[in-house]
Amino acid sequence: MLGRPLRVLVVEGAPDAAERLIHALRGGGIDAAWARVETAEGLCAALSAGPWAVVLASDDLPGCGAAVGLALVRRADPDLPFIVVRETADVDAAVEAMRAGANDCVATDSLARLVPAVEREVREAATRRDLEEQFRQAQKMEVLGQLAGGVAHDFNNLLTIINGCSDLLLQNLPPDDPSRSLVAQIHQAGERSVGLTRQLLAFIRRQVLAPRVFNLNEVVADADNLLRCLIGDGVRLVTALAPDLWAVRADPGQVGQVLMNLAVNARDAMPGGGRLAVETRNVELDAAHAHPGGRAGPHVLLSVTDTGSGMPPEVQARVFEPFFTTKVHGTGLGLATVVRIVEQSGGHIGVRSAVGVGTTFAVYLPREETLGVK
Ligand SMILES: Nc1ncnc2c1ncn2[C@@H]1O[C@H](COP(=O)(O)OP(=O)(O)OP(=O)(O)O)[C@@H](O)[C@H]1O
Ligand SMILES: [Mg+2]
Repeated sequence: MLGRPLRVLVVEGAPDAAERLIHALRGGGIDAAWARVETAEGLCAALSAGPWAVVLASDDLPGCGAAVGLALVRRADPDLPFIVVRETADVDAAVEAMRAGANDCVATDSLARLVPAVEREVREAATRRDLEEQFRQAQKMEVLGQLAGGVAHDFNNLLTIINGCSDLLLQNLPPDDPSRSLVAQIHQAGERSVGLTRQLLAFIRRQVLAPRVFNLNEVVADADNLLRCLIGDGVRLVTALAPDLWAVRADPGQVGQVLMNLAVNARDAMPGGGRLAVETRNVELDAAHAHPGGRAGPHVLLSVTDTGSGMPPEVQARVFEPFFTTKVHGTGLGLATVVRIVEQSGGHIGVRSAVGVGTTFAVYLPREETLGVK
């Protein structure tokens, strides 16, 4: 459960006392890689050579007692667990150490407490770091969103001029004018840019626009023609739609967008052709099988499977990240938009992929318990 091996920094004057601490950790099943320092200078050097998972500091070291050690550790890493080690248990001293900012205080005459204390503090520090990272990421996205929203908006206004003027020019130029093809290219590029800004704005927009209760099969059936058109002749489209599919509550237009994004990605992964399977099914997720971030209970599954290139694990780990792309002209916003739509609808998405075999994206939307709607 804890990182292996756990890097333990011991601030202790006596080598044998430090070894006893490590012995206790190992006896409790903690695989410790450790170093010992006994001066403030030594501690500073060790901290900058880190990272460490936990610091165990003796409180009776002249020149580098727990208080000095704590200040140095906190300056280097506010989240690094710091456990004071005393010879004997002393409630007042323990309270004082923890008031000063130590995470715990353990006595060497009852070392049984050391292992659970280290395990708990290391785990809690990891959770704190995760939360901070999530928060930082959310803040970054917020700022990026504002920036991208502003740019997309202004850019859209400029595009209206570019497209409007090139359109007028095209209408006014005689059919055999040599400039026609150039103007037509400007117009085409302008239209493509409108699509791009629209995708950017859809990504930034937060609210689901028009949620209603519907049957996912309808969206797949409606998209059939468009899908065939998108994936081209080389890819065979196979649909398997469950006849008694439960209803879901979402914005059907946006769910259509989810399907399109997944289908376009699948097409891009099968440049030499292949098979695209779209399936809908009722699934009952139990707690053990619910995906990370997903809930247990009845769901409608929409899965999109291709027989394309597949992804290595390092790509798979990043596919939902905004702006992550492996394509020359990709925006990296397709799947980020998909995630946003799915999560706004109370659902979640999973991916399974094998290089050279293909990829499945599985979208789970919670069943809507409305009577009379299928
Ligand atoms: N079905 C798939 N097979 C293989 N790789 C995929 C698949 N779907 C997504 N990916 C990978 O995930 C990356 C991110 O996908 P995403 O849709 O977010 O952006 P994109 O497709 O690169 O750009 P855009 O959607 O703007 O065209 C892709 O660049 C690709 O590397
Ligand atoms: Mg894409």
